[in-house]
Amino acid sequence: MATLPAGPTESPAIQTVRWVVRPLAFMESARRRYGDAFSVRFMGFESPMVMLSDPEAIRALYTGRDHRLPPGRTFALRPLLGARSVLLLEGREHLDRRRLMLPAFHGERMRAYETVVREATEREISTWPTGRPFAIHPSMQAITLEVILRAVFGVSDEQRGARLRTLLRDLLDQTAAPGLQLGVLLARRLGRLGPLERIGALRAGVDAVLAEEIAERRADPHAGEREDILSQLVAARFEDGSGMDDEELRDQLMTLLVAGHETTATALAWTFDLLLHNPGTLARLQSELAHGDEEYLRAVISEALRLRPVVPLAGRRLGSELHAGDLVLPAGTDVTPSIWLTNTRADTYADPFAFRPERFLENPPATYSWIPFGGGSRRCLGASFAEFEMRIVLSTVLPECTLAAARERPEHAARRNVTLSPRHGTRVILQVRRPAPRRAREPVGSAA
Ligand code: HEM
Repeated sequence: MATLPAGPTESPAIQTVRWVVRPLAFMESARRRYGDAFSVRFMGFESPMVMLSDPEAIRALYTGRDHRLPPGRTFALRPLLGARSVLLLEGREHLDRRRLMLPAFHGERMRAYETVVREATEREISTWPTGRPFAIHPSMQAITLEVILRAVFGVSDEQRGARLRTLLRDLLDQTAAPGLQLGVLLARRLGRLGPLERIGALRAGVDAVLAEEIAERRADPHAGEREDILSQLVAARFEDGSGMDDEELRDQLMTLLVAGHETTATALAWTFDLLLHNPGTLARLQSELAHGDEEYLRAVISEALRLRPVVPLAGRRLGSELHAGDLVLPAGTDVTPSIWLTNTRADTYADPFAFRPERFLENPPATYSWIPFGGGSRRCLGASFAEFEMRIVLSTVLPECTLAAARERPEHAARRNVTLSPRHGTRVILQVRRPAPRRAREPVGSAA
């Protein structure tokens, strides 16, 4: 019987607090002490979780076909996303949904959303004050929420859009509360729903509006010509010819909102933080954008996602024994790559903590050593969408706005729901605002 790798010896309560309060420092100190693989114990979980950062072990994990999800993903998210969310289903049911949903997220399709993203960004820029500090993270959230409402949900009725915007902001604020995870864990120990009860009530309000949107789409004889993702999901068919029913459509919409909104907004906030604290890189990016070259922009985004991965863990429960070099883990073990430790390995990345997009001009990100989107058959379904959206937002903001960092030092990471986010929301100062340049039809964000 294989034993699990050693790891921090403090009680689960202490390890949980360290993980919640200083996640990067917690993982970094475990890497220093225990190396590439170590076991952690979190409150509310019966078994330890093994964290990995060796790309070979991650390849073994992500190419395994019979792994399941660790319980942490399902118990915390099911009340919000619903039982048939693609993020939560396993095995055949999961693969069927992925197959059905993937075409809507294909890189080429993203072009249709360029105007939506640019307009949402322009609107947001016009609200920024000049000459005094403000946090850019909430602005990025407003943009990504608007993009989900228009490009994913396809909301075009202004009143319904306004209702949904208010309801969703409330719901997303609740799910981002700093004490939520601990609250959910404690309530679970007591056999209660705890904070999930209020989230459930808010969700009911959102569900009612989504039901209207779905009904409208089903009744629209021209829905097939619409470009939003909901219209494509309504039309999509499983292999047996059936489609998703209304309840399932609602689960997938909620999943796309929760998986795609905060993550992309946070990735953008981190990218601004890194750029504004690295003026040479910012100057090069601005110059390349002025020449209509997007290669450096792509490298900047890859580097920001490497150094500040928004989602720290993307784990599995082993369906069979995992072997990688000397590491052997028994079936049933909960295992997760530590995305940040993997992305900052000194043997993969020279000067791993430096923000150097140039490294990705020479070598594109590698599948198992650059994992901000997880991997294998559960890799983020919206990765192309997110990178596309980031390209459009950055290539809209940077030519129009001269921004400076409002804080001398780069941000520390704080936990916000399942994400690692800039503690102070990336405070910036808008120094100069220029009119939007006239744009050629060929977009800088042409799809990946
Ligand atoms: C920078 C932004 C984003 C980051 C960092 C991110 C990261 C992730 C990660 C780490 C996973 C788990 C992968 C795994 O378990 O291997 C995931 C899954 C997922 N993401 Fe994203 N994501 C982002 C944006 C988006 C967007 C924009 C959407 C859709 C609109 C989206 C939809 C999904 C879905 C549906 C899954 C579940 C995939 C499955 O289980 O098969 N994500 N994402």
